[in-house]
Order: sequence, then C-alpha cells, then structure tokens
Amino acid sequence: MRSILSVLVIFVATTVSVEVHRCGEGFPHPLQVTIPGCNVMPCEVPNLTDISFGVRFAPPFPTSMLAVNVTATLGEFNLPYETPEHLRDGCANIDASCPLASGQQVILTGTAPVEAPLTRVTVRMRFEIGGDGGQSAVCFAADVRLI
Ligand SMILES: *[C@@H]1O[C@H](CO)[C@@H](O)[C@H](O)[C@H]1NC(C)=O
Ligand SMILES: *[C@@H]1O[C@H](CO)[C@@H](O)[C@H](O)[C@H]1NC(C)=O
Repeated sequence: MRSILSVLVIFVATTVSVEVHRCGEGFPHPLQVTIPGCNVMPCEVPNLTDISFGVRFAPPFPTSMLAVNVTATLGEFNLPYETPEHLRDGCANIDASCPLASGQQVILTGTAPVEAPLTRVTVRMRFEIGGDGGQSAVCFAADVRLI
C-alpha cells in the first residue's frame, strides 16, 4: 500500500498541471489539477474512454466525508451524466484518511468516463467535492474535446 501511494504521489508530482475553470464565487478552487496527457484545455479524449485526473486541494473546513459529484454540459445543455460509483466516495480515493482537518492538503485521484453524442464538440466536465453539511470542499471544471 505504501509503495503504491508513493508511486502515485511521484506520478502526480511529475505530471504537468493544467489550468482549469473556476466553478464560481463561493467554490474553493484546487491548488493543482493534473490530467495526464493534457497540459492545456481542451483535453482531447476519444469517445467512451476514461479521463484520469489528480486534484490537490485543502478543504477550508474540517470534514468527515467527501462526496464527489461530476456533471457534464455541452454549451447551455446538461448532458445526462452519472458520477461513476468508484468515484463517489472521495475519502476512498485520497492519499490520507478521513476525517480531514480544515486546510489539510490532500490529493484525490480518479478516472471518469467521457461520452458525448457528437465528436469535435467540447464538453465541460465539472468536478465538485462536497464535505460535511453540504459545503463545497473544492470545485473545478475542465473542457474535454471528443475526438
Ligand atoms: C451534482 O451537481 C449538480 C449541479 O450542481 C446538482 O444539480 C446535483 O443535484 C448534484 N448531485 C448530487 C448527487 O449532489
Ligand atoms: C459515443 O458513444 C455513445 C455510446 O455508444 C454513442 O451513443 C455516441 O453516439 C458516441 N459518440 C460519438 C461521437 O461517436
């Protein structure tokens, strides 16, 4: 377990980070986001493949849980998107164990399938991680271009 974690940390640390969109006022922005194979948005991803990501963040409040919610939009439209089961429990995918202290830095890594009805369109995928009391621990959005 220990060696798996350190390999993961080295992997995340040596991958170039990508500038991602903010979710808006009141949503804490990540310290760093890495998407292997993508250092500038939109990230190009073939239909029905997974996008991997790592997000380093520090929840601005103490929390005993992390709920990951991924949504996808195409322009103004919401695409039907189910957050994959393996991603939903954020505490299972971080390099620490919950509960987390306020300001504690963690890295969450995961994969999410990308799917859209059209190629050459840019889908915006929004990753929000909520903590205790429904507060937002971190949120960002990445543009993904289906190829
Ligand atoms: C996920 O986020 C979307 C958009 O903010 C929201 O409509 C939806 O209710 C959230 N789902 C969960 C399970 O929190
Ligand atoms: C992507 O895959 C889904 C599911 O098979 C399909 O409905 C959709 O048309 C595909 N999109 C493209 C651009 O091929």
